[in-house]
Amino acid sequence: MSGKTETFELRDGASGRSSQLPVRTGTIGPAALDIAGLHKDLDVFTYDPGFGATAATESRITYIDGDAGVLLYRGYPIEQLAEKSSFMEVAYLLLLGELPTSRQLEEFTGNIRYHTMLNETLLRFFNGFHHNAHPMAMVSAVVASMSAFYHDTMDIHNPRHREIFSHRIIAKLPTIAAAAHKHSLGQPFIYPRNELDYAANLLHMLFAVPCEAYKLDPIASEALDLLFILHADHEQNASTSTVRLAGSTGANPYAAISAGVSALWGPAHGGANEAVLAMLEQIGSVDHIPKHLAMAKDKSGHFRLMGFGHRVYKNFDPRAQIIRAMCHKVLARLGRADNPLFELALRLEEIALKDEYFVSRKLYPNVDFYSGVIYSAIGIPRSMFTVMFAVARTVGWVAHWQEMISDPGMRIGRPRQLYTGATRREYLEIARRG
Ligand code: CMC
Repeated sequence: MSGKTETFELRDGASGRSSQLPVRTGTIGPAALDIAGLHKDLDVFTYDPGFGATAATESRITYIDGDAGVLLYRGYPIEQLAEKSSFMEVAYLLLLGELPTSRQLEEFTGNIRYHTMLNETLLRFFNGFHHNAHPMAMVSAVVASMSAFYHDTMDIHNPRHREIFSHRIIAKLPTIAAAAHKHSLGQPFIYPRNELDYAANLLHMLFAVPCEAYKLDPIASEALDLLFILHADHEQNASTSTVRLAGSTGANPYAAISAGVSALWGPAHGGANEAVLAMLEQIGSVDHIPKHLAMAKDKSGHFRLMGFGHRVYKNFDPRAQIIRAMCHKVLARLGRADNPLFELALRLEEIALKDEYFVSRKLYPNVDFYSGVIYSAIGIPRSMFTVMFAVARTVGWVAHWQEMISDPGMRIGRPRQLYTGATRREYLEIARRG
């Protein structure tokens, strides 16, 4: 629980009424004015489109200091987790709050492995999609459809049911992601191999075929595991807030996660990784960078420098720096050190970071700027990039959903508005209109 240290008095000069707003302090980061009593006391709402200055909840999961480029999962710096941890360990940490012992990690990983297979009926859902359906469309639909399969463990107020749900959704997301990919290729679905670790198993399901053995490249699973760690959570971002809002109605958790998948899809959020690669291909060569930078600055058009800028990071995105280093490593190990798109990305970053427009607005490469280069290098097609993000972020969504549901003070999320439409008017019979 946050502490309340002092109050802030807000006075309406016209009516003379005032409201005492408690100032809530967390463990680190800015304090928050508790405005819950404002409407009752002064009959006003607060107005903050885009939620630039609004804390929608208390949370103990992830902390970001955007000015200092700090990202902590349960207090642990992302740099340390990226270097020393594994995605399964990070998943345990995000969900349960502490790093696991070896025995706890083994048990947790065992629970995830136990649930990797999809019900065959659910697998048949994919056949209802056209071959060129976007994989995100398939993933969000199939995740929502899971609500129709697990009635026996869907009581959101039962902690054991919530635990089984969390294992199930984290275990099955890679199987669903791979099935979406296989469906677009017209290839048979590949079943999970539970002796593989989480990332390696996903690569196996994406790339194995029944008629040939698939040789897993350790650098590919190492890179994917790292990308999953970096994408696992990011406090109250758009998709996580969507999961919380949908879940706050008491909707079943599969429906809430499916809402998160849909919110992630947009190019301003998780869809940016796919858009970055499309943009790099569109730019094509270093000579064309100035023209595209000019387009990005032109407010009359819709072109933006994809993979640049962040609502919270105003110095650097620590995840982008880790991914850039992994890009070098992956391309060198795969013998593609002279990858033209990576070269172009490096030059684009260099030029943009000297440009007054980007400097003055504090626009830096974000997590998505380099991730697509790694995905491409390990053979993952562009349409699957955002799905990869969804696989990783499912852990964060589940952690936030669990935190919200287990809070005894949980209320339905219900924002208010500043109404600017017509004032009251009387209905006019159709014969008397115009
Ligand atoms: N290219 C050109 N101009 C930009 C960009 C960009 N990528 N990002 C922000 N700006 C400008 C924007 O036009 C505005 O300029 P002005 O002050 O002159 O009006 C100023 O910078 C502030 O931008 P904003 O739109 O108010 O910032 P925001 O916090 O609302 O949006 C963002 C953040 C990430 C949606 C935005 O920077 C963006 O669209 N970036 C490209 C898409 C992208 O890479 N998204 C991935 C985000 S990280 C992964 C994730 O969280 O999913």
